[in-house]
Amino acid sequence: MDSWEWNKIAGAVLGTLILVLVIKFGTEALFDVEKPTKEAYHVEGVVETPTAGGAPAAPVEEPLPDFGTVLASADVGAGKAISTKCEQCHDLTKGGPNRIGPNLWGLVDRPRAEHPGFSYSSAMSADHGPWTYDKLFRFLKSPQVDIPGTKMTFAGLRSAQDRINLLAYLRTQADTPAPIPAPAPAKPAEPAPAKP
Ligand code: HEC
Repeated sequence: MDSWEWNKIAGAVLGTLILVLVIKFGTEALFDVEKPTKEAYHVEGVVETPTAGGAPAAPVEEPLPDFGTVLASADVGAGKAISTKCEQCHDLTKGGPNRIGPNLWGLVDRPRAEHPGFSYSSAMSADHGPWTYDKLFRFLKSPQVDIPGTKMTFAGLRSAQDRINLLAYLRTQADTPAPIPAPAPAKPAEPAPAKP
């Protein structure tokens, strides 16, 4: 074979290759639909919360536990273990310093954003109502969702039981632990049908 024939063979091989590539990219362009990164629809009342594992965000309206019941049976030791997460930024001891976040001694029922010497975000200082169990329970689930604009950059504690245990521990970190509310009365029985 002379070089002319070799050229033809090389040309044919190259041609086929180019054809294959063209088909490949062509079909890819046709069928490779880009996947949306966000949900295209929005469900009313459902706030997207940042989740660590990419799990679907839970609706924010989580039922509040009856603290009169759950605190009494909470695991204070487990709560103390969880509080080490808070200690990355907060001192929990009496008379302790403010750190990245304010000192949290006596937190339960303490007025919000009023610990001396700490410079709160305007979001946090927008309210000075007391930190009740209910409010702490909501806030600690997802601080940035509960108080948008807070500078507490903590993802939150998804588990309700973790938050209950933590609150059971935090209430003990006070000169006078905040009282445990009375358990909610059992649901009243169905009212008897009115007699005509
Ligand atoms: C990454 C640091 C960081 C971690 C971790 C953290 N916090 Fe905070 N926290 C802050 C900062 C900063 C503020 C002040 C927020 C503001 O002013 O918006 C704050 C504020 C608060 C407040 C409001 C205090 C007040 O005086 O009104 C509470 C309550 C609180 N944190 C509880 C906790 C608890 C409980 C944990 C552990 C589960 C925790 N934080 C973990 C940084 C942190």
